Amino acid sequence: MRTPYICGNWKMNKTIAEGVTFIETAKAALAGISDVEIGIGATFTALKSLADAANGTNIKIGGQDCYWEESGAFTGEIAPSMLKDAGCSFVIIGHSERRQFFGETNETVNKKTKAALAQGLQVIVCVGEMLEERENGTTNKVVEDHVKNGLVSLTAEDMKSIVIAYEPVWAIGTGKTATPAQAQEVHAFIRKTLTDMFGAAVADGVRIQYGGSVKPDNVKELMSQPDVDGALVGGAALKPDSFEALVKFKS
Ligand code: 13P
Repeated sequence: MRTPYICGNWKMNKTIAEGVTFIETAKAALAGISDVEIGIGATFTALKSLADAANGTNIKIGGQDCYWEESGAFTGEIAPSMLKDAGCSFVIIGHSERRQFFGETNETVNKKTKAALAQGLQVIVCVGEMLEERENGTTNKVVEDHVKNGLVSLTAEDMKSIVIAYEPVWAIGTGKTATPAQAQEVHAFIRKTLTDMFGAAVADGVRIQYGGSVKPDNVKELMSQPDVDGALVGGAALKPDSFEALVKFKS
């Protein structure tokens, strides 16, 4: 009942022309797939061109961050309504790279998430522990903190537009994937946390993606876990054939 959701996160990669070429190839390869939600999170400068290229297809385009104010003197920032204006339908918020390198906190994640929801964007909220936290046994504590404080004061209605991405930081870009069992354990814990916050009916409907070295050869096993509802993919989402294989994980 939860539609699987495979989303690429291109991070700081691809020119406009490279991105459009990817979309042209992928839209032909993925035409007709309606039982998997498909997204690409791209750099701000390419969003409008990518959204135009993907218009009318089953590929959704999203931003990788936004600000929480709608306009004003905030040099360098992008408002959620500007993402909408560029043709985006979703935004990735709270990625670990933003937490590590750009001062993102649970508080800013919460503000950005609410602002994006107010514009009707779907929000992929990223959570996940660092290696040191896994090693000292605080994974659940960290993830619970990210979920509870990132989603504080959201409503059950809001939660219909929220996707959670569990991305253990030690698995991002390292080739070290969490085992399917490790992923499932944390995903089940996240769903329990959502149940405590919003009740079982809401928690059962929220998609939880896994992210961290997902590749065509491990996606099927990860997706077979009961609480793994999708993947947020960096490196393996940069080439159309690899992205196609991820979206077609069932075959
Ligand atoms: P990789 O798939 O390159 O490990 O990146 C994961 C990620 O950070 C997606 O947001």
